[in-house]
Amino acid sequence: MTAGRDVTGYSATQIALHWTVVVLVAFQFLAHDGIEASWRALSRGEAAPPDQAVLTYLHIGTGVLIALLIAARLYLRLTRGAPKPPADEPRILQIVAEAIHGLIYLLLVLLPLSGLVAWFAGAEGAAAAHVLFKTVLLAAIVLHVAGALFQHFVRRSDVLMRMLRPQRD
Ligand code: HEM
Ligand code: HEM
Repeated sequence: MTAGRDVTGYSATQIALHWTVVVLVAFQFLAHDGIEASWRALSRGEAAPPDQAVLTYLHIGTGVLIALLIAARLYLRLTRGAPKPPADEPRILQIVAEAIHGLIYLLLVLLPLSGLVAWFAGAEGAAAAHVLFKTVLLAAIVLHVAGALFQHFVRRSDVLMRMLRPQRD
């Protein structure tokens, strides 16, 4: 996924979007009891429990917000660009990092889509896909964070710092 200008860092907007999405995705993983309880009730043909309504709609709203922010990130990625991996990084690590970024973007599009189809069309298959996607996303994030820490503490590259310190546009 290399496009846009030849930039050496991320812009303040790209960095703000990255960390905002991190917080929102963490919320989705930590506060899913409401949507699960509502989904279980709807699947049994019962009404969704009223005491779970706030958490349920927060899950849906946050998911839609993540989809919008991911669209903005992909737009900036394609128009402004993203920094290249460090030149001295082994090619295989560059490919793994790019593949994991691509997978995370894909899952953050598929998760809201499958969630919306499950909820509004009552599709059990979409709900099962949603649960599978969130498990794959969790694994991808673990690898991604391990890679970021490896870059910083073992390879001592500027990769982590460039997601913290903006480059002027
Ligand atoms: C990137 C956005 C999203 C993330 C990261 C996410 C994540 C999650 C997680 C972690 C669960 C709990 C699954 C489990 O452990 O069983 C869940 C369940 C669920 N989510 Fe989302 N979600 C997102 C967006 C949405 C949206 C937009 C909707 C639309 C209504 C939605 C609908 C559901 C439903 C219906 C369930 C219950 C599925 C089940 O328990 O079988 N999600 N989601
Ligand atoms: C929900 C959790 C996270 C998600 C969904 C996520 C997603 C992403 C994505 C898609 C990119 C690629 C950006 C691009 O070039 O277009 C990226 C880059 C990056 N992320 Fe994350 N990230 C998460 C958590 C973290 C955490 C916790 C750290 C730090 C420990 C981190 C550090 C970085 C760094 C340093 C980059 C830049 C990599 C580079 O320049 O090659 N991320 N992240």
